[in-house]
Amino acid sequence: MISIEPPFISENFDKLYIAAKEVRLRAYAPYSKFLVGAALLTEKNNIAFGCNVENAAYPQTQCAEASAIGNMISQGDRFIVEVVVVGSGKLLCSPCGGCRQRLREFAPLSTSIHMCNENGYQKTLTLEELLPESFGPENL
Ligand code: THU
Repeated sequence: MISIEPPFISENFDKLYIAAKEVRLRAYAPYSKFLVGAALLTEKNNIAFGCNVENAAYPQTQCAEASAIGNMISQGDRFIVEVVVVGSGKLLCSPCGGCRQRLREFAPLSTSIHMCNENGYQKTLTLEELLPESFGPENL
């Protein structure tokens, strides 16, 4: 059962949450044991998803958001309109700094990033709230 706190989030939340929760279980995280799934709604109304992929050489780890973005680009989509991240445990799993910048490349600053755990919804912030005064493609 997915519990969504008011205010109502969006009609896409459930399908994104289900996709992120499912792919989270396929995470390769033998070192941290911290499973993460991310699902992106694209402007073509497709869903791209991915999980974290760790490495014995720890810095080579790939976050779930990065995997999802790679899958989105591979699918032929270029624009993100909504994001759901499903982490582990009670504390909020908000995208790491690097992933905020990765999302910035493909998502408007107004994009909602819904943060969840395996038990359901926790919090929503916009990309701009997560990454204020950011540097993006239009700077170049
Ligand atoms: N992780 C993500 O996949 N996304 C985030 O936004 C935060 C952290 C992963 C990376 C690593 O495999 C594990 O969580 C612990 O840091």
